[in-house]
Amino acid sequence: MDAFSASLMADKREIVFAPTVYKFQTFAQMAEEFKLGERDVVLTNEFIYTPFMKELGLKCNFVFQEKFGAGEPSEAMIQTMYDAIPYDSYDRVIAVGGGAIMDLCKLLGCKRPDTVHNLYFKRFPVVHEKDVIAIPTTCGTGSECTNISVAIVKDEKDGVLTGGETKLGLVSDDIIPNKVCLIPDLLKTLPYKPFACSAIDALVHATESFLSPHRKTMTSELFSEKAMDMILKGFKLIDEKGKDARFEYLDEFVTASFYAGIAFLKAGCGPVHGMSFPLGGTYHVPHGESNYMLFGAIMDYYDANKPDGEIMKFKELVARILGCEVKDAIPEMNALLQRILPLRPLRDCGFTEADFKIFPQSVETNQQRLMTNAYYPFDLESEEAIYRKCY
Ligand SMILES: NC(=O)c1ccc[n+]([C@@H]2O[C@H](COP(=O)([O-])OP(=O)(O)OC[C@H]3O[C@@H](n4cnc5c(N)ncnc54)[C@H](O)[C@@H]3O)[C@@H](O)[C@H]2O)c1
Ligand SMILES: [Fe+2]
Repeated sequence: MDAFSASLMADKREIVFAPTVYKFQTFAQMAEEFKLGERDVVLTNEFIYTPFMKELGLKCNFVFQEKFGAGEPSEAMIQTMYDAIPYDSYDRVIAVGGGAIMDLCKLLGCKRPDTVHNLYFKRFPVVHEKDVIAIPTTCGTGSECTNISVAIVKDEKDGVLTGGETKLGLVSDDIIPNKVCLIPDLLKTLPYKPFACSAIDALVHATESFLSPHRKTMTSELFSEKAMDMILKGFKLIDEKGKDARFEYLDEFVTASFYAGIAFLKAGCGPVHGMSFPLGGTYHVPHGESNYMLFGAIMDYYDANKPDGEIMKFKELVARILGCEVKDAIPEMNALLQRILPLRPLRDCGFTEADFKIFPQSVETNQQRLMTNAYYPFDLESEEAIYRKCY
């Protein structure tokens, strides 16, 4: 077992709900409950602010993430954010957005580091100082309840910069948000593709924590089962009635992704995330989509190599939800996902012949935290075979 998993196992506590949890119909109700005012900084996107917050005339300091650059958080983006939001200008942090915004806000709640790089490479301590209220506007990452903040940082080996970049998770219980507000209304403007990618990401969180061989907890199975049930039922609804049917089910989707976040907080994600991280780092494939590209093939690999045990329980569960035979559960689930969002092959995102060797090496070197959480073990050869299958 890798050192990260071992330290998690040594910690006997199980965090179920670290934050206090609220559900509101509208952002206005949330603003009233929390008496949002001038000492609150709200990090969001302008296209979320305009329809949901502008007309409320609140005195908060609204800051738009797009001012700092597009895409996933990077060292440069975080530094620009620190410069734009002076530390003594706010008492509370309100995150209204997808996983990227919630991860940025977790940092705003902490003592400012000497450099962002030192923070991510653990040379500066994570110290919680200001309350963070997390309000997700996608239905995937579960970041609103997790102790991780992910960023693309300058890579280093033995303390020396390599010249490359890598995706790293800063892990500390000090960055779990203090409050979570679920407001399904805010997902109404989320376009279909990021909606589908994020919902599939949540399904992957639930599945990987359900199959987690060492780190399953007393409650993780409970939360992953419920999350899978809600998400797959939502996908069936969209399959039967069309894309707009999601609007009548947004409450369930945003709640399910929160449940999946609770499930993986300790039980952990696994190889779907481990093998997709280089895709995000190298080809900037969005997080949910990069997981989706590998999910079906990894489930097939598990089923072929160790068909009994937890995966049998998983198949029984999926068969019950989809109304099919147990033996057909994984192919039926893959076919349903394909109808929800056509699967892009790896070659579509720039994956090259050389990557069949480079990616497994990178996974073995950098993603042990996730790979040791595999339901059935991987090696360089099986990883290459999965990438080839998804090519
Ligand atoms: N901390 C964690 O536990 C954790 C776990 C998994 C992933 N992550 C991180 O989360 C990020 C991915 O999060 P995500 O999938 O939510 O994507 P995202 O935050 O990148 O959002 C996806 C896209 O949808 C847009 N968007 C979000 N909400 C919207 C809304 N209501 N209306 C219109 N557009 C909207 C965003 O601007 C963005 O373009 C990555 O940076 C990933 O590394 C963190
Ligand atoms: Fe994820």
